[in-house]
Amino acid sequence: ISETETIPWYPTPLGGTSAEWKESYVKAQELVRRMSLPEKVNVTTGTGWQMGLCVGNTGPAELVGFPSLCLQDGPLGLRYAHNITAFPAGITTGATWNRELMRARGFALGREARLKGVNIILGPAMGPLGMMPAGGRNWEAFGSDPVLQGVAAAETIHGIQRNGVMATAKHFIGNEQEHFRQAFEWGTPTALSSNIDDRTLHEVFAWPFAESVRADVASIMCSYQMVNNTYACENSKLLNGILKDEMGFQGFVQSDWLAQRSGVDSAIAGLDMSMPGDGLHWADGIPMWGGELTRAALNTSVPMERLNDMVTRIVAAWYHFRQDSWERPPPDGEGGPNFSSWTQERIGRLHEGSPDNDATGVINRFVNAQGSGADAHSLVARQIAAEGTVLLKNVNDTLPLSRKMTGAGGKYRVGVYGEDAGPGQGPNACADRGCNQGTLASGWGSGAVEFPYLVSPWEALQAVWSKDTVDLQGYLTNNVGSQDLADQDLCLVFVNADGGEGFIRSDGIDADRNDLFLQKNGTELVEGVAKHCGSGQGQTVVVVHSIGPVVMESWIDLPGVHAVLYANLPGQESGNALIDVLFGDVDASGRLPYTIGRSLEDYGPGAQVLYETQDPVVPQVNLSQGLYIDYRYFDRYNITPRFEFGFGLSYTTFHYTAVSIEKLQKKTQHPPKRLKDEFEPPAYDSRPPHPFSGLFPQDFRVLRKYIYPYIDTTDGTDPGPYPYPDGYNKRQKPSPAGGGPGGNPSLYEPMLELSVEVTNTGTRPGQDVVQVYVSFPEDVAEHRGLGWLRETIEFPDRVLRNFEKIRLKPGEMTTVKMTLTRKDLSYWSVRSQNWVLPTEGKFRIWVGRSSRDLPLVVEF
Ligand code: NOJ
Repeated sequence: ISETETIPWYPTPLGGTSAEWKESYVKAQELVRRMSLPEKVNVTTGTGWQMGLCVGNTGPAELVGFPSLCLQDGPLGLRYAHNITAFPAGITTGATWNRELMRARGFALGREARLKGVNIILGPAMGPLGMMPAGGRNWEAFGSDPVLQGVAAAETIHGIQRNGVMATAKHFIGNEQEHFRQAFEWGTPTALSSNIDDRTLHEVFAWPFAESVRADVASIMCSYQMVNNTYACENSKLLNGILKDEMGFQGFVQSDWLAQRSGVDSAIAGLDMSMPGDGLHWADGIPMWGGELTRAALNTSVPMERLNDMVTRIVAAWYHFRQDSWERPPPDGEGGPNFSSWTQERIGRLHEGSPDNDATGVINRFVNAQGSGADAHSLVARQIAAEGTVLLKNVNDTLPLSRKMTGAGGKYRVGVYGEDAGPGQGPNACADRGCNQGTLASGWGSGAVEFPYLVSPWEALQAVWSKDTVDLQGYLTNNVGSQDLADQDLCLVFVNADGGEGFIRSDGIDADRNDLFLQKNGTELVEGVAKHCGSGQGQTVVVVHSIGPVVMESWIDLPGVHAVLYANLPGQESGNALIDVLFGDVDASGRLPYTIGRSLEDYGPGAQVLYETQDPVVPQVNLSQGLYIDYRYFDRYNITPRFEFGFGLSYTTFHYTAVSIEKLQKKTQHPPKRLKDEFEPPAYDSRPPHPFSGLFPQDFRVLRKYIYPYIDTTDGTDPGPYPYPDGYNKRQKPSPAGGGPGGNPSLYEPMLELSVEVTNTGTRPGQDVVQVYVSFPEDVAEHRGLGWLRETIEFPDRVLRNFEKIRLKPGEMTTVKMTLTRKDLSYWSVRSQNWVLPTEGKFRIWVGRSSRDLPLVVEF
C-alpha cells in the first residue's frame, strides 16, 4: 500500500478503557442497556436540518430519560444567538500567544453556551491547520504551526468544558481548502482528496487533535473531504486507528454537516453521530442512518456491538461533563436550548424544517449570556483583540501615539482613511458575515456570529482626542484621490482582506482568497495615503484586518509608512482594542501566527489552493509539503520572508541570556511498551432484537422530513452474513504509540527543563513571547530488532516546540522555565509505526523572539 492510500483499520476500538472516563462509562452502560433499538439509533442521528432549535439536534431516548442534545457553532461565539459575545477569531487568539487568554476565552464561550442551553459547541477549529495561506477558513483556527494550534486548542477546550459544555475539535482532517471540499457545492461528483503521508499526518495535521484528546475533548468532527481517497467520515484508519486506538479517544466522532457519505461504511469505520441527520442532500429527510441504521443493525451489516459503542460513547460523554445534572428540556422541565437559530421571534415553530405545520412554543428567551461587571466577556474579548494585534513596523517610535498631540502653530491634523475604519452598513449586513463591507472583524461562514455590536475604529478614535487640539477627519472610503491628504500630520489608513467558508461567495472571492493582496483597492489606498499624507511629510500608520497573510511588498518600505499594525480579526471590541495598542495602554505584544511572505509562491507549490480541477472523478490535493509548512518551508529553501512566523515588535526591548537545560530523563529511542488498557469496555448482549422492535409505533404521527429511527416494514432485516471489510473479524494489533489520552503517556513526559533569563531593557512595561525551537540531530539511526538501521531522516531546520508569554516592568528580569517532552523530541517513524527519539547526535534547542530571531542555543 502506498503511503497515501487508505489502510483499512477495523473494528472500532470500544470506548470505556480509560480510568478518567470509567465512572461515566459505567453509568452510560446502565442507561444504554435499557434502551430499545430505535432509541439507540435516535441518539446517534440528527433529527434533520432545521428540525430543532440548534444547527444540530440529536433525537432523545425518552423512555430512559436521555434528552435531545443541542449542537451549536462555533469557534468564536454562539452562532445565530442574541445577547452573546462576538469574540476575536481563532487566528487573533493564536496571535496573542497567551495561554491564559486562550483559556479565558474558552471559558467565557463555554459559559455563554451553558446559559443558552447548548450541550455541544462546534469548536475549536484546528483544521485547516493553515497549510495554504490563501485558504478560506484558516482564521477559524489558531495559526500555521501544529504546536501553536495544539496549545491554543487545548486551552480553549479546557476553558469551554469547565462549564460542563462539551467541546468539538474540528475538522478531522485535511480540510485545508474550501474549493471542492464538498461535491454538491462545487459541481464535482465527489469532494477532493487531501493526500497526506503518514509522517506528515502525525507530526503536523493530527498533532493538535492529539493535544485536544489530552485536554479531554468530548467530541471530534470529521471533515468534508476525502483523505487519501476515502472520505474522512468513513476512513477507518483515521477514525478507528488514529483517533480511537492510537490517541485513545473516549468521546464520540460526529460528522460535519452532510460530510457523511455512506451508512454502513461510516458506521464501521468509526463514525458515532450523523449530523445534521439528513443524508446526501440538505433537508431532504432521507437519512444515511436513522431508520436505515436500525435496519442495518437488524440485518447485522452494522454489528450491534458497533451501534452499542456509538451510543455508549455519546451517553458517557454526557455523564462525563455532568450534563445529567442540567435542567431537563420540555416537557419535563425548562432546560434545553432557549434560543432559535432560525428566527428572532419569541414564539415560533419548533420544527422549522418541516413543510407540515407543527407545534409552536416560546423559542427565543433572549437570555443575556454576556456576563457583567468584572466578569463581562467583552473584557476578555477586548484584551485578546489588543494582545492579538501585531506591530510589524514602527519607525522612530511613531507608536504609541499620544493623547495630547499638538500641531505646529495650530491644531494637530489627523486623517482616517478607508472603508475598513468605519461602520459600513452595520456588522450584520450580510448573512453569516458573507461580504466585505465596513470594518472587518470576522471572516464568513458557520464560524461567524451575529455581532451584538461592533465598535469600529472610527467610532473609537473619535472619543480619544480633544477637539480643541486635534482636528480629526474621516474619509471612510477606498477611493483614492477624493480625500484630503495634503495638510495632515498623521494619516491612519485601514485596509483588509476577507474570505471564509465554501458555501458563501462574495466580491469575487470564492471562499478561499484568489491571492494574498489587500482587497477592495487596499493596496492603492495605502500607497496613495503614504505618498501624499502631509504632502509627503506626514506620518502614515497602516492598520490591517485580515483573515490571513497579506503581501505588502509595494508599500511596506515606502518612507511615508511609519508604522503597521496587523490587527487580524478583532471581533466586537475592534476599535477599543485598537486604541489600547495605538496609545500604548497595552504593549504591542501580538506575534505572527504565520509567516508573511513576499509573494504567494514563496510558501511553496504544495501550499497553493487547487482552484480548478481537470480530474473528472476526485480532485487530488497533495499535502506532501506538510512537514514544511509555513516558516519551515521558508527556512528550508532559504527564502527571506517579509515578516517571519513568531515575529512582532514591542514598545519596549528585551534581552535574553543564561540559557541552560537540565536533563530529566535518559534518551531512549522508543517510548516504553504500551500498557494494557486499564479497564474492560462495557459489554452488551450483541444479538439484534426482533425486527418488529424497529417499526414505527402504531398511530405514530409522522412529521414530514423529520428523521426518525424507525422503519416502515421489516423488509431487508434478515440477518447477514455480511462481508465485513478485510480484517474486521481479527482484532487489530494495538499501536505501540497508544495507551493513554493523546497517545502513549510517556510521550508527554518531560525529557528536559530549559531555563532562560529575560530582562526588559527598555523604558516601558511590556510583554514578550519566549519561543523555543528544536533542530533534530542530522544523521539519525534507528534501532530495530537485532541491528541498527541507518536511514536518512529529513528534518525541518527548526520546529516550534514551546512558548511562554511573560510580562516585565522596565529593568525587571525573570527566569523562564519550560519543558520539552519525549514527543517534542521525536519524529514519527513510518517504518516502526511509532515515535522515535534520536539517541545519537545532538539536538539544538533555540530560544528567542521569533522563528528567525533566536539568539541563544543549547545542545541536548
Ligand atoms: C459546516 C462547517 O464545516 C462546520 O464547521 C460547522 O460546524 C457545520 N457546518 C455546522 O454549521
